[in-house]
Amino acid sequence: MTVYGVGLGPGDPKLVTVKGRDILDSVTTVYSPGRLSRTVARQHVPSSRIGDLDFPMTRDPDKLRRAWKDAANAVAEKAMSDDVAFVTLGDPNVYSTFGHLRRTLSAFHPAISVEVIPGVSAMTAFATALDIEIESGTGLSLREAANGSAPTGPDRMILFKVTDAVETHEKLTAAGYNVQFGRRLFMEQGETMITTDPTEIAERDYYTLAYAEREGIEQTVPTAAFNTSSEESV
Ligand SMILES: C[S@@+](CC[C@H](N)C(=O)[O-])C[C@H]1O[C@@H](n2cnc3c(N)ncnc32)[C@H](O)[C@@H]1O
Repeated sequence: MTVYGVGLGPGDPKLVTVKGRDILDSVTTVYSPGRLSRTVARQHVPSSRIGDLDFPMTRDPDKLRRAWKDAANAVAEKAMSDDVAFVTLGDPNVYSTFGHLRRTLSAFHPAISVEVIPGVSAMTAFATALDIEIESGTGLSLREAANGSAPTGPDRMILFKVTDAVETHEKLTAAGYNVQFGRRLFMEQGETMITTDPTEIAERDYYTLAYAEREGIEQTVPTAAFNTSSEESV
């Protein structure tokens, strides 16, 4: 049988894909690694089909490996007889806990088949939420900016895991970037915030990202400069 990694999107239950919902409807058990993903899954799946997995709050690699081994054993045992799903927010292949499960399954249960159903990632949803167009031909890098860090280099960056917006903002503006922050975008839990002022989101919240664009970058967009004189407007 199959273990499906299902991406739930950024948090709004309506942004689960049709295919993702079909899989959630069809499997016997839906495992979720976190409280928020469970809340979204619960909009589509009755609690009787939600499976329990224990994840310790630790960064200790040995404890983590053991926890993922236990989780993979539980999922694999169920998948011997039934199709099951493991849900994550966003896309299962972008900065996701699903990677731990997949690696552990492949090491200890290589016979179990795994299929991924992509989800709407914060990596793309941010553009709509922040009303930013990533024009064709431009580059965009995904980086991490935890604990006040501020990667620099690319002209345009999405920064995940922004936990100290004030410090990250200070460093990025000093390096010549304009910065916008997005918190809990397309999420029903908590308050959605979009701001250029880091003091408004000084309080730590894991579901915070930033978009940083180098000041003064030149863009040539084919339809940007219209000549609105009479001969073109007819
Ligand atoms: C471990 S990554 C998970 C990314 C997820 N797999 C995806 O594809 O969107 C978590 C980070 O993604 C960003 N993130 C995810 N969902 C978000 C949302 N709805 N609003 C703002 N940031 C979000 C935050 O920066 C957060 O720290």
